[in-house]
Amino acid sequence: MHHFRYVGNKLYCEGVSVESLVKKYGTPLYIYSQRTLTEHFQKLDTALAPLDHLICFAMKSNSNQAVLRTLANLGGGFDIVSEGELRRAIAAGADPGKCVFAGVGKTEEEIEFALKKGVYSFNAESEPELQRINRIAARMKKIAPVAVRVNPNVDAHTHAKITTGTYENKFGIAIEQIEAVYARASKLKNLRLRGFQMHIGSQLTSVQPFEQAVKKVIPLVERLKKKHGLEFFSIGGGLGIVYNPALESGTAEWWQSAKAKSILTPALYAKRLVPLLKPLGLRILMEPGRFISGNAGILVTRIEYVKRTGKKNFLIVDAAMNDLIRPAFYEAYHEIVPVSRKNGTLISSDVVGPICESGDFFAKDRPLPKVGEGDHLALLSAGAYGFVMSSNYNTRSMAAEVLVSGNKSAVVRERQPVEAAWAGETVAPWQK
Ligand code: LLP
Repeated sequence: MHHFRYVGNKLYCEGVSVESLVKKYGTPLYIYSQRTLTEHFQKLDTALAPLDHLICFAMKSNSNQAVLRTLANLGGGFDIVSEGELRRAIAAGADPGKCVFAGVGKTEEEIEFALKKGVYSFNAESEPELQRINRIAARMKKIAPVAVRVNPNVDAHTHAKITTGTYENKFGIAIEQIEAVYARASKLKNLRLRGFQMHIGSQLTSVQPFEQAVKKVIPLVERLKKKHGLEFFSIGGGLGIVYNPALESGTAEWWQSAKAKSILTPALYAKRLVPLLKPLGLRILMEPGRFISGNAGILVTRIEYVKRTGKKNFLIVDAAMNDLIRPAFYEAYHEIVPVSRKNGTLISSDVVGPICESGDFFAKDRPLPKVGEGDHLALLSAGAYGFVMSSNYNTRSMAAEVLVSGNKSAVVRERQPVEAAWAGETVAPWQK
């Protein structure tokens, strides 16, 4: 469910028309629905209610402070992957004691900062990292809470670039080596073995790989709990969302449809996993990113030109791969709808950006209504891994972000002034 829908022929985010936001704030524009974020968080929270649990939002999916504040206010913690993310979360009002620090390449400075702030756990990905955390903690006269990330060697059946739980990937420690690693880590005086972590991949649309991975590691978790007194088990994120057709999936009727029955919902996820996890008697952490933020955001863009080449109908828009890289990077599908609904026949169109790369596209051969220069299109399901992956490529400034709640809207990140794209650059002294 989400709160982007047509009222008459106009696309709305909750109680605010997208057209009015575009008039006020221009394009390209990211728009987030606070109610959608809240409901997604609550759905997971309810599904996991039978367990002692903590939802740590994977803020890499959307780190806007207004989004983080929404989730912190609901009692959520955060899955962070850098000092920058921890600083950002704290600035947004997060409790570091509810933050878990993931990632294969934590630097000394990052570990020191996170230890000072008191994160809930370092989710370590290698033995050299455990040794480094121990060394830094000793120097700071602290005990560092750690978990080790297991690589369970389970295929998540998702896009190769977002699979993380097989031995082809750089993540975690092979399941066969984990016990020995915990045994050695238990000898490191400044570590507290607090938990166990797993994350097998992103955008999973079936519950099976989750089930398979949890079943595979449970005997191991039981043994480790007994031996080392673990307190938590983090089952990672990865819950997939509906990218197609995302607009219909926002409605209650759609959720009654046959198609909806095959969707991986929090209820189904919990139905299969809670009975496996409950007997462990551990605190269960979950690190969802996309499930919470994905369908809570759209990217709105203006059509600059319609270019017909005889072979193709190109809609050239003012957003580009620097704003939303997912189609270029993962061949990802994003539903595209006009901000003002049009009737009439559909025309097969390529929606492309102005960047000088053939990969700069949002859709190819997509049936779309007849639209023209000055019309606006909305790219749906852009709330996760959208703005956060944007760049200044082609010296394009980064888009503005707006948060909507009911009838209210506010800019929660102003459009980047283009000069900021070269801030900090200078010519070399001998060129002056
Ligand atoms: N926990 C860990 C340790 C992770 O690495 C990730 C995502 C998550 C949780 C959250 O996964 P989610 O619930 O969002 O699936 N840029 C890609 C996705 C990269 C995911 C990276 N790790 C995309 O646009 O599809």
